[in-house]
Amino acid sequence: MRNIEIIGTGSYTPKHMVTNEMLETIMDTSNEWIVSRTGIESRHISTGEETSDLATKAALEALKDGNLQAEEIDLVIVATCSPDSLVPSVACKVQKNIGAHNAMAFDINAACSGFVFGLDIARGFMASGRFKTALIIGAEVLSKIINWEDRSTSILFGDGAGAAVLKESTVDGLSYINCKSEGEKWEALTCGSVALENPFIMDTIPVNSKVTMEGKEIYKFAVKVMESEFNRILNEAKLNKEDIDFIVPHQANIRMIEAFSRKIGVSLEKFIINLNRFGNTSGASIPIALDEGNKSGAFKKGNKIVVIGFGGGLTFGSALITWNKDL
Ligand code: COA
Repeated sequence: MRNIEIIGTGSYTPKHMVTNEMLETIMDTSNEWIVSRTGIESRHISTGEETSDLATKAALEALKDGNLQAEEIDLVIVATCSPDSLVPSVACKVQKNIGAHNAMAFDINAACSGFVFGLDIARGFMASGRFKTALIIGAEVLSKIINWEDRSTSILFGDGAGAAVLKESTVDGLSYINCKSEGEKWEALTCGSVALENPFIMDTIPVNSKVTMEGKEIYKFAVKVMESEFNRILNEAKLNKEDIDFIVPHQANIRMIEAFSRKIGVSLEKFIINLNRFGNTSGASIPIALDEGNKSGAFKKGNKIVVIGFGGGLTFGSALITWNKDL
């Protein structure tokens, strides 16, 4: 396997911030309920920008941070479950917007695990030697697929994008990746169904195109896979939990993160947590959190960072990042 590392990160969220108090005015909920059940205080919601707009802004920031020109990018992968359209991909629009003329560009959908799946795919592509650089973006405008009539799901999500630039390296900056799917549980989280409609069907069967979710199922699944993936990485990398400097989990719910932290005996201080400000941004949540860890100066050269995503599919993915960027 060729070594690769993250050389730059970027993120972008729409300007319009929606607080829990604002949600109280449009549905039967309360700030107290939302904060105590989820830890979420506000989220950013698009008032006009599409997924590709958010992705483009995060990508440009990541390129700047990585000191790389768009023409030098060989691969653009956008992880999203809320694309602008089925065709073209968000990745192709980003390619045009940033001028990554030499890249192969496509979208993937692994819901909230999408960014980690993107890292895994890029690592595999780069192993061939044909791709020296890659831009991996998680971008979502979930507000367009949320059922705003359903208070148990609509309070959870937000819009945003995060990006990372990968490059061939002398250090092993991305390792012990594992991405898996449990498709038998797909009904636990769905959205975006498209009705089967054509001139040869007499009665079109209506579908629910908005988010549906079995919250408790997802909760149990998430805590289980976060714990098992964290322990898998420690075992395979022959590390102790004290060797891990940061954990960047998918930002879904503070109670899940607290349960995970208790199970592995690692203090919350080692976690990057921003779900209070952004809610659950699905595929964007991990790269936005990585960008915060990078730009705040929290990540230091040599740090070991575990990222773990989980979500619809059901899917999960985790990796060990060794930070090699100078401040
Ligand atoms: N405001 C006020 N009350 C609400 C509410 C809201 N926004 N949403 C639900 N409730 C009510 C329910 O109607 C229910 O009322 P009832 O007891 O009178 O029927 C009550 O609160 C409890 O609902 P319940 O579903 O048992 O709550 P919960 O403790 O399981 O928490 C979630 C619900 C969604 C916060 C929790 O299950 C969760 O976070 N699951 C994981 C979801 C997730 O993160 N998905 C994305 C993964 S990628």
